[in-house]
Amino acid sequence: MKHLPLFVLGLLGALPALGQGNNYAQNYKKFDNLALTPPMGWNSWNKFACNVDERLIKEVADAMVSTGMKDAGYTYINIDDCWHGERDAQGFIQPDAKRFPSGMKALADYIHSKGLKMGIYSDAGSQTCGGRPGSRGYEFQDAQQYAAWGVDYLKYDWCNTEGLKAEGAYKTITAALRKAGRPMVLSICEWGNDKPWEWGPTVGHLWRTTGDIYNCFDCIKDNGTWKAWGVMQIMDKQEHLRQYAGPGHWNDPDMLEVGNGMPANEDRAHFTMWAMMAAPLITGNDLRTMSPQTKATLTNREVLAIDQDPLGVQGFRYAAKDSLETWLKPLAGDKWAVAFLNRSKRPQPVRFDWQATPIADEVAKVELNAAKTTYRLRNPWAQKEVGTTKKPFVATVPSHDVVVVVLSK
Ligand code: GLA
Repeated sequence: MKHLPLFVLGLLGALPALGQGNNYAQNYKKFDNLALTPPMGWNSWNKFACNVDERLIKEVADAMVSTGMKDAGYTYINIDDCWHGERDAQGFIQPDAKRFPSGMKALADYIHSKGLKMGIYSDAGSQTCGGRPGSRGYEFQDAQQYAAWGVDYLKYDWCNTEGLKAEGAYKTITAALRKAGRPMVLSICEWGNDKPWEWGPTVGHLWRTTGDIYNCFDCIKDNGTWKAWGVMQIMDKQEHLRQYAGPGHWNDPDMLEVGNGMPANEDRAHFTMWAMMAAPLITGNDLRTMSPQTKATLTNREVLAIDQDPLGVQGFRYAAKDSLETWLKPLAGDKWAVAFLNRSKRPQPVRFDWQATPIADEVAKVELNAAKTTYRLRNPWAQKEVGTTKKPFVATVPSHDVVVVVLSK
């Protein structure tokens, strides 16, 4: 050994450490190559709140397949709050044994056997919003448990987080998921309090931008200490955030209320605007009993294609006048989706002259110039061709409804 040069001795000394890796190192980066388009699925909260059990979840998984929702692209079956029981003697979280007597592994296996994926819910604080055990102090054990069950998606909430800072807390759960080793989508749910769009893109795949949605088109539900927001109220809070969204990292304006009681026109407008915003499409209705109308709304392939477009650009409000708004979303292959949204209580006429002026999207760095290029127009709700950009587009938009056209060359 004494004849070996010093730098070789140094290298030999470093070998054991290299071989073991740094087992204290933490990886705060989300799993790559997930949610490259906005996640699509179902979540129990909006309709069922705390009333979740394995029978419901299995029936919803069945309905996801039998209704054609799965074929339309919906994949995740996400159990929200209140599935939890106690921790065992070693600290591992267990499901509520009355509600989930077969256990979570069996439930995940069932969901996977249908070609679907399973999501679960926890909270960065000591307790979830529904008062069940939170993950604070148990992050690595919880991640290990979810991975052992076969979970594919974690929604991680922000109640009872006294003294915690969001960025750090979400990095801890990301490190725990990485350590557990099973790729999972991480849905950051801290309601936009600490600007998750600034630190979220490397830590998680989607982040809530607001407080909870409320099942109305245009209202605010005041719950005293917190407010829930109607569809229009939530939509208005997204616009300045569009530059933060893209493949693998999405603004989340909360889960859908389609099929939960609003009339068909309002459901259609809600669904369309979520698609225009490249929002995650997590349905929140009872898939087992939904009406043909609701099903038709949720499975319209051409509207889904607007949401799922691979460019992953969140749309923008181009014009607003007398409660009539014009929204644009650039799509791959020099296509564009254009939505005319009528927020008023009366029908409103639209006349849109495509050739009047080029429209630039400063974020996506693309331009719609109908004076140079002629586009064909197709209405995805009516499922028909409606002319070209050579002539101004003329239509009447019913109250609380949309007229959409997709432009292609
Ligand atoms: C918070 C979340 C909701 C839901 C509930 C569950 O309010 O924002 O989406 O998960 O908690 O208690």
